[in-house]
Amino acid sequence: MYICVCNAIRESELRTAARERLGDAEMLYLSLGHEPQCRQCLADAEKIVAHERGTTDMRTLLPH
Ligand code: FES
Repeated sequence: MYICVCNAIRESELRTAARERLGDAEMLYLSLGHEPQCRQCLADAEKIVAHERGTTDMRTLLPH
């Protein structure tokens, strides 16, 4: 299933990136070689990233 239709980023790719790297969804997109286009996916992408990291605290998504 695609989380980002504009960039054809699969949910599984985003989950793997969330486990391996720091940063919010937009930063993870960049790490996958993509930039957000319409941005409609970002809110859901952030939830997936937070869930994958076992938190709902969005502050943990940012690098320290
Ligand atoms: S669906 Fe992700 S940027 Fe458009």
